[in-house]
Amino acid sequence: MNSTYKYYEKHWQEYCQSTVDKAPTSEIDTFLSHIENPKELILELGSGSGNSLKYIHDKGFNVSGSDYIIDIVLSLKQRFKCCSYVIDITDVEFLNSFMTSTTVKHLFISAVLQHLSSSELIDFFKKIEVKGLLFLSLKEGVGEKTLEDGRYETYYTQRQIERLVSKRFEILSFNRSEDMLGCSFNWLSWTLKLKS
Ligand SMILES: C[S@@+](CC[C@H](N)C(=O)[O-])C[C@H]1O[C@@H](n2cnc3c(N)ncnc32)[C@H](O)[C@@H]1O
Repeated sequence: MNSTYKYYEKHWQEYCQSTVDKAPTSEIDTFLSHIENPKELILELGSGSGNSLKYIHDKGFNVSGSDYIIDIVLSLKQRFKCCSYVIDITDVEFLNSFMTSTTVKHLFISAVLQHLSSSELIDFFKKIEVKGLLFLSLKEGVGEKTLEDGRYETYYTQRQIERLVSKRFEILSFNRSEDMLGCSFNWLSWTLKLKS
């Protein structure tokens, strides 16, 4: 169990309280604008407070939540009508078979992948099989760091990620935005589609 998991396992309530009203609405709107049929199932990975889950659901789309912290998933289940699952994003084989068995069409991953090591991120983009769209956001920067609270984070440039994903994915949209919690860095976000 790594220090990021330990942080969220212990502090999930205070973390979720601080972000519950901070959904990246403009980025979500761009992602949703590429989905023609709102009945197609979207799976969010690392839902945290459920801020994006609620926004996507309230827009009339079919969305399920997930996280690797069991208490977060129980809280999502209590507060929202959507289904929510315990899923670790680094277990890509499981994720692929889960998406097939539950007819998930699209993946939404906001502010989660920065917690993966760069080799885990490379592995994720090498193996992930998503039928529809994939939204992701990452922190802009260089290198990696373990924060004082124990969370491990990696930072990327637009160019690094686009080099990595363009092997398998077409880039439908890109956006750079300031952090909504007032921290001095930018979020980079993309909507991707697997090349056929
Ligand atoms: C920075 S928070 C972002 C939460 C939410 N997506 C948002 O935008 O507010 C990261 C979330 O990802 C979850 N997470 C971190 N690593 C994960 C992993 N390997 N698999 C699944 N969830 C993970 C954490 O438990 C936490 O809820």
